[in-house]
Amino acid sequence: MDYRQTDELSIENLCVDFDTPEGIVHAVRDVSLKVHKGRITALVGESGSGKSVTSLAVMSLLARNGSINNGKIICNGTDLLALSVKERHALNGRTFGMIFQDPGAALDPLFTVEQQMTEGLREHQRISRQEARELSIRYLKAVNLQEPESLLKKRPFELSGGMCQRVMIAMTMALQPDYLIADEPTTALDVTVQKQILRQIYQLCREQEIGILFITHDLGVVAEIADEVAIMQAGQIVENGDVLQIFEHPQHAYTKQLLNAVL
Ligand SMILES: Nc1ncnc2c1ncn2[C@@H]1O[C@H](COP(=O)(O)OP(=O)(O)OP(=O)(O)O)[C@@H](O)[C@H]1O
Ligand SMILES: [Mg+2]
Repeated sequence: MDYRQTDELSIENLCVDFDTPEGIVHAVRDVSLKVHKGRITALVGESGSGKSVTSLAVMSLLARNGSINNGKIICNGTDLLALSVKERHALNGRTFGMIFQDPGAALDPLFTVEQQMTEGLREHQRISRQEARELSIRYLKAVNLQEPESLLKKRPFELSGGMCQRVMIAMTMALQPDYLIADEPTTALDVTVQKQILRQIYQLCREQEIGILFITHDLGVVAEIADEVAIMQAGQIVENGDVLQIFEHPQHAYTKQLLNAVL
C-alpha cells in the first residue's frame, strides 16, 4: 500500500529529455520536489537550468520533441503520468493554474477583459454569465485593481503591463486552482508593482490554501514569499528544503554562490 498525501503535488525523480537535431538534451535530470497546499515552494536557478521544463512537464505542456523518460508526478494522490494526455489537460485551469512572465501574450488583444474572464470561468464551472461577471469583479478587487466594472470593458492594450499581469492572476485565481504554477510572473514589472503582486500571490496562497510553485532567479523574492526552496543547476536540484534553513546554512557551492551574489 502506497500512502501518499492528498494535499500535495509531488515530483519524484523526474527526467525530461528533448530530441534535437544535435542529439538528446537531458534538460531535467532526476528532479524531486514537493508543493504543499497553502504553501509556496520556490524553484530557483540560472537560465537554462530546467525550471520551466519542470513546470511544463507537470502541466503536460512540453514541446513535441520533449518526453518524460523517468519519474512520477503525483498530484493529490493521483499518478498523473498514468492518465491520458486529454485527462491531464483537463486538469489545467482547476487543478493547475498558471501565470507566466509575459501577461500580454496570454491575453487575447481582440477581446475585453470581461469576455476573457467570464468565458474562462464558464469553461470550467457551471455558472451564468452574470455569476461569472460577479466572480470576475470579486477577483479583480482581490488583486487591488481599481474600478473593476470599467476595467472589464477594456481590452489588454488599454492596460499597463502590471495591470495585465494582475488581470491574469485574477483570472487564474478565480478558478480556485489547487496549485498555481507561476513562472517568473513579476520579472517584467517594475519593483513597486512587483512587490504588490508578490504580496497578493502570497495572500491568495494562504487564504485559499493554494499550493504554489514559484519559479524565479531572484533570491530576494524567495526570501520574501517562499516557505521552501529548491535550487536547480544544469537540470538537477542541488539543494532543497526550508528557506530559512538554506539561507542560513547553505550546503552546496552553487547555493553559496547565489547567496553571495545578493548579499
Ligand atoms: N523544445 C526544446 N527542445 C530542445 N531543448 C529544449 C526545449 N525546451 C527547452 N530546452 C532546453 O532545456 C533546458 C532547460 O530549459 P528551461 O526553459 O527549463 O530553462 P529555465 O531554467 O526555465 O531558464 P530561464 O531562467 O532562462 O527561463 C535548456 O537547455 C533548454 O535549451
Ligand atoms: Mg524559464
